[in-house]
Amino acid sequence: MNADLVVVGSGLFGLTVAERAANELDLNVAIIDRRSHIGGNAYTENEEQTGIEVHRYGAHLFHTSNERVWDYVNRFTDFTDYVHRVYTRHQDEVFPMPINLGTINQFFRAAYSPAEARALIQEQAGELAGTDPQNLNDKGIQLIGRPLYEAFIKHYTGKQWQTDPKDLPASIINRLPVRYTYDNRYFNDKYEGLPVDGYTAWLERMADHPKIDVRLDTDFFDEGHDYSRSAVSGQVPVVYTGPVDRYFDYAEGDLSWRTIDLEQEVLPVEDFQGAPVMNYPDADVPFTRILEFRHFYPQRNYTKDATVIMREFSRFAEKGDEPYYPVNTSVDREKLLKYRDLARGEDKVLFGGRLGTYKYLDMHMAIGAALSMVDNKLKPHFTGGASIE
Ligand code: FAD
Ligand code: NA
Repeated sequence: MNADLVVVGSGLFGLTVAERAANELDLNVAIIDRRSHIGGNAYTENEEQTGIEVHRYGAHLFHTSNERVWDYVNRFTDFTDYVHRVYTRHQDEVFPMPINLGTINQFFRAAYSPAEARALIQEQAGELAGTDPQNLNDKGIQLIGRPLYEAFIKHYTGKQWQTDPKDLPASIINRLPVRYTYDNRYFNDKYEGLPVDGYTAWLERMADHPKIDVRLDTDFFDEGHDYSRSAVSGQVPVVYTGPVDRYFDYAEGDLSWRTIDLEQEVLPVEDFQGAPVMNYPDADVPFTRILEFRHFYPQRNYTKDATVIMREFSRFAEKGDEPYYPVNTSVDREKLLKYRDLARGEDKVLFGGRLGTYKYLDMHMAIGAALSMVDNKLKPHFTGGASIE
C-alpha cells in the first residue's frame, strides 16, 4: 500500500479532505467508494433519452454564506445565477412557498398589508396561546394558526414522517418561517447557484490529481483490496465518512434514518409544471413533491420533445435503504453518544460527513467541516507529528 491517507467515501466531505491532502499537504491519497461513481449524494447524470441532467439522490441546490467555502468551491466550478423557488399545490391551486404575503393573500382571497397579515396570523395562532404544545400538531397551530398550518404543513410533515403530527414530538419544529413580504426566494444565503457544467463535472475535478487514487465499487469492509479495513487498520490514517454504526458493527444498535423513494419518469411534453419543485401538501397524494430537472438549467438547450420528472416518497429507512435524514429520536441521541466515545478511542481514524457524524449537513457544511478537519487534525499530524485520534 502506498497511500499516506485513506479516505472512505467520495462525497463532498471525502473529496474535500482528499483534495486538500493532495494539494496542500502533498500526500498520496486513496479515496474509496462502495458506489460505482464518485460524489456521494451530490452526484448527477444525464438522463439517456433526453440528456437532461438528473440528480440521482434528490434535488441538490448549492447555497452558502461562508466566504471560505465559496472561494474554495469556485476553484473547481463556476456557478449559474439560479435562484431557488418552490411552489405548492394544495387542493388544485398553486401557491408560492415558503409561506409569504403572496401565499397568505391568495389563501384568504385578500389584499392584506404586511401589518394586517401579521395581525391576522397572530390572532389565528392565539387559539393555543399560553399553552405548552406537547405534539407537532399543536406546535404548528401555535406558530402560524390552524388554517395555514392545516393547508401547507400538517399533511406534508405527516407524509415526511409517515406519522400523524399529533403523534410527533413538538421538538421537530422550532419555527415555521412566515414572510410578510412577497419575497419567495427559498434560501437567505449570500451565495447561491448551480455548477455551470453540472455537479459531476465539479466533483470529478476535485479528485483529478496525480496523487489521488480513486477506487470505485470498493467497500471498506470487504476483504480482498488494498484499502480494506483489515489492510489499513492502524497502518495509515483513515478518514471514514460511512455510517458510524456500521463501523462498529452496530454494537450500540442501529441509528434510525428516513429515506426517500425516487420515481423518475420521462414525459413527452416540453414543460410539465413550469418550476423545478412543486410540493404536494395534501393527504390524498402519496408523494411529497415533484422535481422537474430542466428548470434547474433554463439556459441549456434541452430538447423540447420531452421532460424528466421525479416524484419523492418519504419513509423510514430499513437496512439496505439509502440513509438520507437522521430521525434523531432521544434513543438515537443516546446511541450516538456511545458511538462518539467509541470513535474517539479508535486510533488513527477520524469520522466525518453526514453518515460518520449522524447529522444532516448541507453541502457547504460538509465542505466547511472537511476543511476544518484538514486544518485541525490532518495538518498538525502530517506536518508536526501530532497524533490522530
Ligand atoms: P455522502 O454524500 O453521503 O457521501 C458518503 C459516501 O460514502 C457515499 O458515496 C457512500 O457510498 C460512501 N460510503 C459509505 N459507506 C462506505 C463504505 N463502507 N465503503 C466505501 N464507501 C462508503 N445539500 C445542499 O447543500 N443542498 C441541497 O439542496 C441538498 N439536498 C439534499 C437532498 C437529499 C435527499 C439529501 C439526502 C441530501 C441533500 N443535501 C443537500 C446534502 C448533501 O447531499 C450532503 O451535504 C452531502 O451528501 C454530504 O456529503 P458527505 O460526503 O458527508 O456524504
Ligand atoms: Na478516532
